[in-house]
Amino acid sequence: STTLRQLAPFPIGAAVNINLLKTRPAYLNVVKTEYNSVTAENAMKFGALHPSEAVYNWTDADYLVDFAQQNNARVHGHTLIWYKSLPGWVTSYQDSTATWENLMKTHIQTVVTHFKGKVAAWDVVNEAFEDDGQLRNSIWRQKLGDDYIARAFEYAHQANPAALLFYNDYGHEYSTTKRTAILSLVNSLKTRGVPIHGIGLQMHTSSNISNSNLATAITTAAQTGLKVHLAELDIAMNRDALTTATFTPALAAAQKDKYRAVVQAFKALPAAQRYGITTWNVGDADTWVRGYCSCPDWPLPFDENYQRKPAYDGIVEAL
Ligand code: XIL
Repeated sequence: STTLRQLAPFPIGAAVNINLLKTRPAYLNVVKTEYNSVTAENAMKFGALHPSEAVYNWTDADYLVDFAQQNNARVHGHTLIWYKSLPGWVTSYQDSTATWENLMKTHIQTVVTHFKGKVAAWDVVNEAFEDDGQLRNSIWRQKLGDDYIARAFEYAHQANPAALLFYNDYGHEYSTTKRTAILSLVNSLKTRGVPIHGIGLQMHTSSNISNSNLATAITTAAQTGLKVHLAELDIAMNRDALTTATFTPALAAAQKDKYRAVVQAFKALPAAQRYGITTWNVGDADTWVRGYCSCPDWPLPFDENYQRKPAYDGIVEAL
């Protein structure tokens, strides 16, 4: 039957768990046939790639890159600078601004250089804002000041001037304050000539967010003139975190409508700004949401057995 990558007029992808790709044939089959873009769910994060100062571990990330090349899929790099997934050697690093600047620069440039020609786009900075619109007081900001963000983009650009560089964050669809802060940062980076080419909306969203809020998040991001990535799409259906919840046909239908609405809003953007849509993993058995909420949930377009859900049909209807 027809698959998403055959239907979509823009790249369509999933975050991939490398272990599942290696061990679960049904997972491998869906990733291969449905998607033409992949993001490492965890394998390109700081702690995974750079476990101690002198050691880089490329094995899993390279495996995904090879897989993508064999299957004509794009690799979206996630993520260079984030406040999470930091190894102990970083969080306990000696306190001198010069060494911290060098630490950030070296990590970014080693990673971007390693994947040059293979990973054409990066989430350079991830989740730099709090929901109240203030800059998150991450270890990077504490050590390097507010402008670490701009310098991270400069360092990535030096290492690979051809790479598309993204600022990635969540909350555009539920916090006007946060969205405004993010868009004003992005616009000011552009005005200053900092090399930034795209904005990632994570879109970890839920059925209780209105279609108009979803559309506003997407269209206001596009007003920056940058490329837009729906970077980590999933639609949680158990926002009250009830441990007894079940996935009823009514929930499946509501989720289908929500997926259709998100994809429709994205498709309405000018083609040159549609970088793509990435769901955050593949099937409901694999979702991070279950761990995050410690509750049952079914946020993805495929079920536990990698069968297409109504959510999948909602996407298809919008494409
Ligand atoms: C999550 C992964 O899905 C989990 O497996 C991991 O334990 C924690 O990170 N925002 C992001 C992603 O930018 O990197 C996060 O991924 C989910 C929230």
